[in-house]
Amino acid sequence: MELTLVFSLLFLSCLHGVSSDSRYFTSMFTLGDSYIDAGNFVIMAAPVFPVLHDKPPYGMTFFGHPTGRLSDGRVTIDFIAEQFGLPLLQASLLNSPDISKGVNFAVGGATAIDVDFYERNKLVPFKLLNNSLNVQLGWFEELKPSICNNTEGGRDCFGKALFFVGEFGVNDYSFVWGAGKTEDEVKSYVPKVVKNIAMAVERLVTDGAIYVVVPGNPPNGCSPALLTIRSSLNQTEKYDHLGCLSDINRVAMYHNIMLRAAVGALRDKYPHAKIIFADFYKPIISILQNPDHFGVTSANALQACCGGSGKYNWNASAVCGMPEATACKDPSAFVSWDGVHYTEATYQYIANGWLRGPFADPPILSVIPH
Ligand SMILES: *[C@@H]1O[C@H](CO)[C@@H](O)[C@H](O)[C@H]1NC(C)=O
Ligand SMILES: *[C@@H]1O[C@H](CO)[C@@H](O)[C@H](O)[C@H]1NC(C)=O
Ligand SMILES: *[C@@H]1O[C@H](CO)[C@@H](O)[C@H](O)[C@H]1NC(C)=O
Ligand SMILES: *[C@@H]1O[C@H](CO)[C@@H](O)[C@H](O)[C@H]1NC(C)=O
Repeated sequence: MELTLVFSLLFLSCLHGVSSDSRYFTSMFTLGDSYIDAGNFVIMAAPVFPVLHDKPPYGMTFFGHPTGRLSDGRVTIDFIAEQFGLPLLQASLLNSPDISKGVNFAVGGATAIDVDFYERNKLVPFKLLNNSLNVQLGWFEELKPSICNNTEGGRDCFGKALFFVGEFGVNDYSFVWGAGKTEDEVKSYVPKVVKNIAMAVERLVTDGAIYVVVPGNPPNGCSPALLTIRSSLNQTEKYDHLGCLSDINRVAMYHNIMLRAAVGALRDKYPHAKIIFADFYKPIISILQNPDHFGVTSANALQACCGGSGKYNWNASAVCGMPEATACKDPSAFVSWDGVHYTEATYQYIANGWLRGPFADPPILSVIPH
């Protein structure tokens, strides 16, 4: 009798543990760039210059219409929100009156280093949107009082909030590569980029954040757009065994090693916080190494689903969203959606690896109290 009671209590508490797991977080706040943007870039850029990803076939798989996400459907943070029973986060610049369950500050093109640095040093030949990590942090801090009004304020307000800082760095390095710099020169920017990301995480933790996920850089040396652009330069390119650009991927790996070390240092400094390094590199490499296993046709592994013919199905005169471009029938058979960003299927695989492992240190679901 007593034993039965003990067992059923244990059983009940296990069940309780499972359900509280999946509903643990009460809100999500995300900073980042085009890998998670849900519409901010369209709002900021559309008045200034033409935008392509506000047009079909963006959104074709899940939403059925463009949402400002740079994918055929959901992106990583959407799958994470779903796991916790939260609504898909809205772009912050939509100024939704209800942000109690969170909001997404990410903007396509965002850099870790402030934009005036790139303009001042003539690294970019065009005007950048003012959307860097620091600007996004400023937006968050502006909204903080209205988010926290219903609680006792301070720490408690974000105790059950899940933060994302990143990915950041891809745009910083792209600008420096684009300015014709060498690999060593691009690498010399890594410490500054990583320091800015670490400072942002620290600022959020001192603002009361407990749970912060920090994604690293993807292997964008495997991106169909960069593969196409580089091959047209007639340089002798160095390709790795997967057919990706070695120098670009080496910088991404170097960034990831430094970022991981910075996350480790922050954990030591703030032991009460749960700071997670999320690997954005290995999950994509795993798919490219064994595409058939993931339902990706080998021939499509380095091709964009949506584009305009050529070896990588990426063509500057027929970029996804232009009338000349066409989308593949089954985006889940591709890794890359538009030559730079990934398909919903790729993002889902990454999000699962961040939630349950093996692509996060530690996996998000493992840090929730049971
Ligand atoms: C970007 O916005 C921030 C915050 O509003 C401001 O301090 C900064 O001067 C702006 N930078 C540029 C280049 O416009
Ligand atoms: C939150 O509280 C501040 C200070 O009391 C007040 O100025 C602000 O209007 C409140 N915001 C909301 C959304 O209630
Ligand atoms: C690259 O080489 C091809 C063939 O030799 C030539 O037609 C093309 O103009 C070259 N492109 C550049 C950018 O130099
Ligand atoms: C790129 O797209 C343009 C416009 O549709 C087309 O004329 C051209 O042939 C394409 N180039 C390649 C290499 O497929």
